[in-house]
Amino acid sequence: MAASSNVTWHELSITKEFRRVQNAHHSFVIWFTGLSGSGKSTVANELAKELYKNGISNYVLDGDNIRHGLNKDLGFSEEDRKENIRRIGEVAKLFVDSGQVVLTAFISPFKEDRNLVRNLLEEDEFIEVYVKCPIEVCENRDPKGLYQKARNGLIKNFTGIDSPYEEPENPEIVLETDRFSIEECVEQLISYLTKRNFI
Ligand code: ADX
Repeated sequence: MAASSNVTWHELSITKEFRRVQNAHHSFVIWFTGLSGSGKSTVANELAKELYKNGISNYVLDGDNIRHGLNKDLGFSEEDRKENIRRIGEVAKLFVDSGQVVLTAFISPFKEDRNLVRNLLEEDEFIEVYVKCPIEVCENRDPKGLYQKARNGLIKNFTGIDSPYEEPENPEIVLETDRFSIEECVEQLISYLTKRNFI
């Protein structure tokens, strides 16, 4: 029997819709996916600043940070990565329920896991952003020196080296961080969000 089978769901009297009206904006997830070093966190943080300046309540969930707290019990096996993304999906959904825009920056290498999160949410609540950058460029940037360690066999299951990354098939947005500056990528995002009436 599942651990949650004796737990009932409480309907909250202040709904997502009330919170959206109070905030005067929609709430949704911008899901950044891509290789380590592709620029997910950097772009997410810059976008967060823009949203903040425009009075849009938002929060960034970032792999390196979440793995220090909520997910510090998880490593990088396929199973742990699945659980990592499942938990983040649930947390992101709570943020959406709270009326905020949530920006997530996780490698999230598996299509199935990303789709699981997409299916947790409504159609107008999930925007998949593929932060696309050739592995050679990521490896060259190597901001944390992890590619070097992985090449030297000091880190196992490193995405792109000895663990797969499944490219998104139909992402809402593709950002090519080897061709465009961070500012240009943020502009591309703002332009998409504005055109589609997300903001
Ligand atoms: S995910 O695959 O489960 O989505 P997540 O985004 O949370 O990964 O964490 C990735 C970050 O953890 C990387 O940016 C990197 O700093 C660090 N890291 C440590 N070990 C690995 C590894 N084996 N593969 C990828 N990233 C790793």
